[in-house]
Amino acid sequence: MNPVKIGILGLGTVGGGTVNVLRRNADEITRRAGREIQVCRASTRDLTRSRICDTTGIALTDDPYEIVSDPDIQIVVETIGGETPARDLVMKALANGKHVVTANKMLIALHGNEIFAAARERGLMVAFEAAVAGGIPIIKTIREGLAGNKVEWLAGIINGTSNFILTEMWEKGRDFADVLQEAQRLGYAEADPTFDIEGVDAAHKLTILASIAFGIPLQFGKVYIEGITGITAADVKYAEALGYRIKLLGIARRTPKGIELRVHPTLIPARRLIANVNGVMNAVLIKGDAVGPTLHYGAGAGAEPTASAVVADIVDVVRTLTSDPENRVPHLAFQPAAISEIPILPIEAIETAYYLRLSAEDKPGVLADVTRILAAHHISIEAVLQKEMPEGESHLPVIMLTQKVTERELNAAVREIEALPTIKGAVKRIRLETLG
Ligand code: HSE
Repeated sequence: MNPVKIGILGLGTVGGGTVNVLRRNADEITRRAGREIQVCRASTRDLTRSRICDTTGIALTDDPYEIVSDPDIQIVVETIGGETPARDLVMKALANGKHVVTANKMLIALHGNEIFAAARERGLMVAFEAAVAGGIPIIKTIREGLAGNKVEWLAGIINGTSNFILTEMWEKGRDFADVLQEAQRLGYAEADPTFDIEGVDAAHKLTILASIAFGIPLQFGKVYIEGITGITAADVKYAEALGYRIKLLGIARRTPKGIELRVHPTLIPARRLIANVNGVMNAVLIKGDAVGPTLHYGAGAGAEPTASAVVADIVDVVRTLTSDPENRVPHLAFQPAAISEIPILPIEAIETAYYLRLSAEDKPGVLADVTRILAAHHISIEAVLQKEMPEGESHLPVIMLTQKVTERELNAAVREIEALPTIKGAVKRIRLETLG
């Protein structure tokens, strides 16, 4: 049979890694796909730049539009990233009848509904395994491996850069900015690293996971997003003393009232496996009603781990090139006509436990006032930790862990606590999940 001809848009970390893996494992990949896969063309912004891959036999261009309109190309692999021009290129590739493989989480989270509709109209595939958690085959796992389950919730460490920063803060007490620079140097961080540390990148990935887990449209705009910039070394230390680690989690949970979709720093019990996922590694914990909890761990970024997912998608597309489009695995796991509009809950309506850190005057009755306010809002206290007065300070750090409460109720209590004359400044709060 003739080789399948593919064109790659972008020869950076992911595109270059993809060329390397396709070359190195060509025989194994052909045995799996049933056909040889040939990278015929690739686009790169700067034709003179040195690259991580060997481009012998690949026609290079600095115009990606040439590739999406090349009649010989059957599969376009988009590894440029970002919204523009990736969205336009993918839409043009589909309009020209090409299947698409993309590693672009932002593109799928923001424009996936439109892209999948265009693909369906033409009976084309859009594969996006590499968009979430790099090399962990999490899309395939949820979409196919867990297809018998009603997914109850999932929680993931899905941004390697933030996890690397939190791990270094916890292990070595390192400075935030210094660790971020290292993540950038290692090629883990996004072009704009605020996307990593402010939780936006994790929210892109959570949007995709939630859609395929619950059969809902992609709704990035409804994700509650809070990054890790407010986490201090002291919080990491106090959490540890109470038996918890702080992780940036993406959480999607089905509740009777709707779906919780949130990204925020979270205290999780140190004994949980996922609490011990360190450095740039990613992990996704999924609770299915039949299977129970399953944990999926691996490299969430980097050239070859991401290429592993891109190549798996290329193989998937090649295997099903001749199959009837109606019989392929649906893009969002559920049949398009069965996608459901379950409401996404606002953050005030979510229910979780909390870590609260207050600065309190050191005199009798102060804690009694705080606990009275919490009790009036039906908030039970799980643990209290009172630290010594830091040198040169006038107030004591007091840490409280609450039991589960709605965010609305917690906010009301925190407002009252902050109004007490014996409490200085804002009450710091970090959500806590037991993941049991
Ligand atoms: N910047 C991302 C991360 C890369 O740190 O996880 C992988 O999507």
